[in-house]
Amino acid sequence: MQPAEFLIHSGTVATVAGHTHNPARGKDMSQVGLIDNGAVAIGDGRILAVGNPADIEAGGWIGPETQRINASGKLVTPGFVDPHTHALYAGSREHELGLKLADVPYIEILKQGGGILSTVRSTTTAEDDVIKAQTKKRLQTMLSLGTTTVEIKSGYGLTLEEELRALRLIRELDSEVVQDLVPTFMGAHAVPPGFSEAEYTTLVVEQMLPRVAGQGIAEFCDVFCEKGVFGLESSARILTRAQALGLKLKIHADELESFGGAELAARLGVTSAEHLLEASDGGIQALANSGVIAVLLPATSFNLAKHSYARARRMLEAGVPLALATDCNPGSSPTESMPMVLTLASLYLKLSPEQALTAATINAAHALGRAGETGSLEPGKAADILILDVPNLDYLPYHFGANPVQTVIKRGKVVWSC
Ligand code: NIG
Ligand code: FE
Repeated sequence: MQPAEFLIHSGTVATVAGHTHNPARGKDMSQVGLIDNGAVAIGDGRILAVGNPADIEAGGWIGPETQRINASGKLVTPGFVDPHTHALYAGSREHELGLKLADVPYIEILKQGGGILSTVRSTTTAEDDVIKAQTKKRLQTMLSLGTTTVEIKSGYGLTLEEELRALRLIRELDSEVVQDLVPTFMGAHAVPPGFSEAEYTTLVVEQMLPRVAGQGIAEFCDVFCEKGVFGLESSARILTRAQALGLKLKIHADELESFGGAELAARLGVTSAEHLLEASDGGIQALANSGVIAVLLPATSFNLAKHSYARARRMLEAGVPLALATDCNPGSSPTESMPMVLTLASLYLKLSPEQALTAATINAAHALGRAGETGSLEPGKAADILILDVPNLDYLPYHFGANPVQTVIKRGKVVWSC
C-alpha cells in the first residue's frame, strides 16, 4: 500500500459523507459528518482515508514521506461546487446600476435592449483571448474563495456560431484552469432582436441543439423559462429536444413571476430547477415528488434588491433536495463568492450552517452529475478539500465579507493558500 502524500490533521473535519448515491433531502441535509480532531489522508489526487488520526495511522497510511498539514483550530470541508454560473462573458454592466437604483425592473432593462443583450454585444464583439482572460480571472477569484468545480453556461452568443464558440471556449478553459468545468448550453437565454420567441425557439431546436449535441461539447441544456422570455411551451420544446439528443436538463424557473416553471421542471424530470423564488406550493410539491434538485441563488435576490428570497424552508419540509450557487453573471449576480452565498443562505433562506454546507457541496455536485467524484470527503473521491480559517461551522456563514479560505487543495495538490 502506497502511504499518503499529505495528511491534513488536527482540524474539525466536515466530511458531508453518506450522500453520494442520492442528494440529501429533509433531515439528511443536516448530516455533515463532523469529526473533531479529524484527519484526511491524500494520495494520487484522491482521498485515501478520513477519520481520527490514530485510526489513519493504524491503517498504515502514514509513511516517512507523508507531509503533514496542521489544521488545528480550522475547519476542513469539501471544495465548494458552484452548479450555476454564467461566468463566460466579456465586459461588465456597472452602467446599469443607476437604472436599478431608479427601480427599473430587470426584465424591463432587458426589453430595452440592455441586460443580457448588452453582454451579448460585448461578448460577441470580443476576441477569444479577451473572453478567456476575463473568465480566467473570475475562475481564479472563485478558486481563492474555495470553489473547485464550476458549471458554466453559454448564452451570451445567441447565434449558432457564437453559442458554439462559447462552448468551445469553456472546453478550452477546462484544460487551462484548476477547476473542473461543467459546460451547459443555454442558447435560450434571451430572444435576440429581430426574432419572435417562436422563431428563435425553432432556431435553437432545429439548428443549435443538433450541432451542440453532435460536437459533444455540452453536458446540460438550460432555458430561461420566464414570462416575456421563453414561455412554458417554448421551454418544453427546447428541453424535450435536448433530452432526446442526450443532454441532461436544467431550467431557470419561476425567478421573477410564478408561472408554472417548477411544475414543468418536474414534468420533464430535469436534473435541477434554478431560482424558484416564485415557485407555487404545487410546484414545490411536484419538485419533491420527482426528485428534482432546487438550485437556489440568494446572491441574485440580494443583488436585484428584491427583498424576497426562495422559500427554502418550505422546500426542505416538502423534501426537495437543495443546492446553492452564485449565478455568477454580469447582471443579476456579479459575484464569484460561495462564502457570501452561504451567508445569504443562512440569513435569508434560513438554512442552518449544516444545511447550507450540504447544499454547497454534495447536493451541488449532484446537480452537476459529479457526486461520484467530488462534493464530500470520502475514500476514493477526488481530493478537493478546503482548509477554512474558521473555528467552527457556525462561524462560516456568520462572519461575512472576508475570505475564510486558507488553503485550497484540488485533486490532491495545494493550488491556493494565503
Ligand atoms: O440567472 N435569468 C437569466 N439569466 C441570468 C442573468 C444573466 C444576466 O443578467 O446577464 C440569471 O439571473
Ligand atoms: Fe442564471
